[in-house]
Amino acid sequence: MKFLEVRSVFKSYGSIRALRGVSISVDKGEYLCILGPTGAGKTTLLKIIAGLIKPDRGRVLIEGFDVTDLPPELRSVSYMPQGYALFPHMSVWDNVSYGLRVRGLPLDRAEEALKMVGLYHRRFSRVYELSGGQQQRVALARAIAAEAKLLLLDEPLSALDALLNLELRHELRRLAKGLGLTVLHVTHNTEEALSIADRVVILRKGVVQQVGRPSEIYLKPANIFTASFLSEVNILEGLARVSGEKSVVDVRGLGKLVLEKPSTKASHVVVIYRPEDVLVSSNTPSYKVNVFKGEVRSIEFLGLFSRLRIQVNGLEIIADLWSGEDRGLKEDSRVYVYFDPRLALVYPYPREGLHVELYEGGG
Ligand SMILES: Nc1ncnc2c1ncn2[C@@H]1O[C@H](COP(=O)(O)OP(=O)(O)O)[C@@H](O)[C@H]1O
Ligand SMILES: [Mg+2]
Repeated sequence: MKFLEVRSVFKSYGSIRALRGVSISVDKGEYLCILGPTGAGKTTLLKIIAGLIKPDRGRVLIEGFDVTDLPPELRSVSYMPQGYALFPHMSVWDNVSYGLRVRGLPLDRAEEALKMVGLYHRRFSRVYELSGGQQQRVALARAIAAEAKLLLLDEPLSALDALLNLELRHELRRLAKGLGLTVLHVTHNTEEALSIADRVVILRKGVVQQVGRPSEIYLKPANIFTASFLSEVNILEGLARVSGEKSVVDVRGLGKLVLEKPSTKASHVVVIYRPEDVLVSSNTPSYKVNVFKGEVRSIEFLGLFSRLRIQVNGLEIIADLWSGEDRGLKEDSRVYVYFDPRLALVYPYPREGLHVELYEGGG
């Protein structure tokens, strides 16, 4: 039995179809991230699981019990809303113990939760006196204090600056794992989701696009949207024809690319290369196919690697180079670019067009 099951849930607000048949199942103790752009329906989905919104259709089951018609307080679910919804003028202690007091429960759990997030010594401070990171911890302590087995976190780290986000995301996971909680963590931050989740659900326009472990999602994106949402990628378009075990794609603006055995039968295709999968060198590479001459347009230093934008025929190609390997390259440098036939992600060209698929789509 799954710990949580969401079965074919639909929800519209007037003519806006926020969720269109969403099904997910979550194991006990699992840390699941729901990743999608703004408007994907993430908050709506969490609120339906929490019991704050009723679905138009579909069911929610927790430990095998159908809770779809149960009010929030009977679901044993703890929900941390987007933006925390703390009471800024109340003390840390009153915020964290609020839910327990309302329900007439003992307050030890609030004390424990505050100690867990390292803020027990600040219990008499007002929330507005705390930093962003501390407020996030207070909200988390309040969610934990509710003693629910299922924790629903809506963009819990989005209000934090980048460094604090990095620091707290792992703390969050550690805390949840230590307490044996099952967590649904909603975010629009790809890196955040991929780095802490056991599994990731990609949601877009109310439809699940893909579910999988972070590495599966990253290495084998199910569609063009997912591939391009996860990171900045090269999106090439062309006409493919099969030639034995190979596929030859005439890429618009680039030229012919020879690829491994095609995974799609479509002839009009989209070929995606991640920047780290494009090889750049100053000397002529020894490969027989897929080598193009180019000229460096810009080099962006990003620490471990540099991101190059290279003019290749009629296209600008993005390629990442380890920082140690970009020595000597500068703007206007002439380089060779190589596309490894095995590393291409190939998809049928979307019916509604590429722009719709990438930026609007699904509607
Ligand atoms: N109370 C509401 N009334 C009308 N439309 C809403 C309401 N809440 C959300 N929506 C719409 O439903 C869609 C999904 O919203 P939401 O669940 O908040 O997405 P996300 O959290 O992924 O940004 C959006 O188009 C949003 O504008
Ligand atoms: Mg939201």
